[in-house]
Amino acid sequence: MSGSIAILDFGSQYSQIIARRVREVQVYCELFPWDAPAEKVQAIQPSGYILSGGPNSVYEDGAPFLPAYVLESGKPVLGICYGMQALTHALGGHVAPASQREYGFATIETTLGNPLIGAGTQNVWMSHGDRIETPPSGFEILAHSANSPVAAIGDMQNQRFGVQFHPEVHHTPGGKEMLRRFALDICGCTPDWTPESIISQSIERIRAQVGDRLVLSAVSGGVDSSVATALVQRAIGSQLSTVFVDTGMLRQGERAQVEAAWSTMPGAKLVVVDAEEIYLQALHGVEEPEKKRKIIGETFIRIFEQQAHQLGDPKYLVQGTIYPDVIESAAPERGKAQRIKTHHNVGGLPEDMSFELVEPLRYLFKDEVRAVGEALGLPSEMVWRQPFPGPGLAVRCLGKLTRERLDRLRAADAIFTGELTAAGLLGRSTLDQPNGISQAFAVLLPVRSVGVMGDQRTYQEAIALRAVTTQDFMTANWAQLPHELLAKVAGRIVNEVQGVNRVVYDITSKPPATIEWE
Ligand code: XMP
Repeated sequence: MSGSIAILDFGSQYSQIIARRVREVQVYCELFPWDAPAEKVQAIQPSGYILSGGPNSVYEDGAPFLPAYVLESGKPVLGICYGMQALTHALGGHVAPASQREYGFATIETTLGNPLIGAGTQNVWMSHGDRIETPPSGFEILAHSANSPVAAIGDMQNQRFGVQFHPEVHHTPGGKEMLRRFALDICGCTPDWTPESIISQSIERIRAQVGDRLVLSAVSGGVDSSVATALVQRAIGSQLSTVFVDTGMLRQGERAQVEAAWSTMPGAKLVVVDAEEIYLQALHGVEEPEKKRKIIGETFIRIFEQQAHQLGDPKYLVQGTIYPDVIESAAPERGKAQRIKTHHNVGGLPEDMSFELVEPLRYLFKDEVRAVGEALGLPSEMVWRQPFPGPGLAVRCLGKLTRERLDRLRAADAIFTGELTAAGLLGRSTLDQPNGISQAFAVLLPVRSVGVMGDQRTYQEAIALRAVTTQDFMTANWAQLPHELLAKVAGRIVNEVQGVNRVVYDITSKPPATIEWE
């Protein structure tokens, strides 16, 4: 890999997006808090620095500032919004409150040829209160907008640039190209951060970490645990044992899919634990959602411990931690929301077991995890799978968990998702498809209502259908599905699924509802 970019995070809500855009041009980058120790940042040997936006004003007491090592390095710098102001402030220019806050679309006009932003006029996204009054010496004004006389600046000799707008967001159509020019043309990085290079580097790292010792992995069928495990499998083959626990709370065909995927992996050892009975017994009579989650988590740990023992007590455990999890835990100030639900990921680390973690996806974004999964030959249904809660159908089967009720839910869910897929509405789940359905499933309600089928009175349970569109799963809109499709699905469920005589469609968004019902 040749060349990388360090992004210093000054607290912008868009910082992660900057990192994703740079990775999209196939250049490795990492995001660091603005005050991270210099050694830590310089350990990646950056070819250049990007300074993110942020909520502060440079002249406030205690405002984040540009650390000295950035300028001392002599490497190219790109300051975005607050990052541009911090750069200006550090170099003796003048930043002041703008007479009017500027938020939303603006048109900039390039006034001086430069290697970063291109010529002519273009639309950009602005979001700032302060602006540059006087650029530092050595800097020239590259572009202006109606409200920002200094929309972009550059010191061509030292390769330092600042833009008042946000090139990282979709609302700045030319922004990705600007970041590409910065990373490749200005910093001189090579675009070699590809799935193949990620795989070969991961393999080296995994081999160096575990040597010839035994490793254990738990797959849930989800994309992260599958890709992490497949990478470790590639790296150390026969030293890895992979456990898949069939909790009895899986969707139709899910176990077969996991078994099929692993059967094609050369030398893979998949241990499938048939734990349906154990789970049903442990959950017998339990109706309270948090209690279900807790029991499922504890049962998983017990099964996992037994398996570890039988598999030679490996000291290493594979975890599918991905980069956004790492970034979020390093940035507590952005706030962790109140705990609404205990999210238990099957595959989570048993707290009282001492494993050393192998985390091959620790520096990858979700789209990169998927690209690596495809390059490793995992089936595309697995790689592009929708999110599925760790406790599985337990949180979609409201009320008591019995095999009969779970089968009922599985059948209804398969009809709904099957019809959506056939209609082309439920495709690949990605965060960048704001209009596609991001998640869709059936929920079995513990209520019975009266119906009539033929000449018979029925008194049976109801299915709720849930389909949402969302970018980040933190907020979501209910999907406006075609009525004909809903009618077809409802008809099929009532006719084909024993014990269901009514189907309703959930038309609440998140908030105030959550995506799952429990
Ligand atoms: P909610 O229901 O909180 O869900 O709006 C947001 C997203 O998280 C998924 N989800 C879970 N994932 N363990 C998980 O691994 C869980 O317990 C869990 N509960 C919800 C949910 O499917 C949605 O994508």
